[in-house]
Amino acid sequence: MVDAAHLRAQFLADLDGVASDRDLQVVRDRYLARKGGLVARLLKEIAGTPAADRPRLGQQANALKLDIEANIAARRERLAADRPVAGAIDVTLPGRRPALGHRHPLTIVRAQMEAIFTRLGFAVVEGPEAEDEFHCFDALNMPASHPARDMQDTLYLAGSMRGEAWTATGPRSADEQARDPRTLLRTHTSSMQVRYMQAHEPPIRIVVPGTVYRRDNPDLTHSPMFHQMEGLLVGERISLADLKGVLLTFAREMFAPSSRLRFRPSFFPYTEPSAEVDISCWACEGAGCAQCKRTGWLEILGCGMVHPAVFEAVGYDAERYTGFAWGMGIERIAILKYGVEDIRLFFDNDLRFLEQFPI
Ligand code: DAH
Repeated sequence: MVDAAHLRAQFLADLDGVASDRDLQVVRDRYLARKGGLVARLLKEIAGTPAADRPRLGQQANALKLDIEANIAARRERLAADRPVAGAIDVTLPGRRPALGHRHPLTIVRAQMEAIFTRLGFAVVEGPEAEDEFHCFDALNMPASHPARDMQDTLYLAGSMRGEAWTATGPRSADEQARDPRTLLRTHTSSMQVRYMQAHEPPIRIVVPGTVYRRDNPDLTHSPMFHQMEGLLVGERISLADLKGVLLTFAREMFAPSSRLRFRPSFFPYTEPSAEVDISCWACEGAGCAQCKRTGWLEILGCGMVHPAVFEAVGYDAERYTGFAWGMGIERIAILKYGVEDIRLFFDNDLRFLEQFPI
């Protein structure tokens, strides 16, 4: 006959192997099932033992049954406590990477440009985006009749420099403009040439990155808001050769060590002589491809030797000082460097575009 002590040992070993609710149910049934359970069988066997032994054996069997029930209840509770609660943190899942932002491509390019010119000894300065006509135009040898001053090209701010309400009335005479200068959103960073020279004596070596505004409708190549980097160097005996040296160094560091430059005669009111500068296409090394429209050259900036009239406007001795200046579009450089096809992508804030640039 099986005795209670033996059955208890067997039960405890079985309970030890329980890992789930289902395992526990199997063990419970094995011992406590009314029909065929091992405890029920033990009780049945006891019924056939001599009367003198029965009370003792019966007590032992009952004690065993209670013990098994208590053990099973305790095990059930432990299993419930170990079960993960819905929505709780599953520490075994792989971690989720926090999304890191990316620098805007224009920020990257601007920083690279600043780094190159800083190494060449240029200081980085910034200036106001809301300007007056004097700094944006007059001092740069662009008289009141200059087409860039037209309402069609320039975004004027409502209200005059004297704080009077100002309404758009079309072209104004030089007299009118002088009497009541308008505020405007600067159309180029060249306005900072004037501000800086008014406040500093030569020698001067600055670059001016910043936002500029024009009355343009957005399309593939135009945006009413974009960015430029102005350069200005003024001193004694500064020549066009110095300008070429600075720009060639920039082109080689920004694009390719084999870059070449081409100066095309041009016109800007604030430089004489003036030039537009092309860089050899690095995609085809000048042979002609889609990027350079088969010309082998890519236009990157306008520049020239500072016009004596500009020096006079800021009170410099135009006999003593010479200098050069340039203005380049930061978007233009970024477009060429990264092969961006549409300038509007820089301002759409589409993450699929922005995420393609380094952190
Ligand atoms: N201001 C010109 C523009 O916005 C660019 C420019 C040309 C700047 C010649 C200069 C310069 O300083 O010398 O298109």
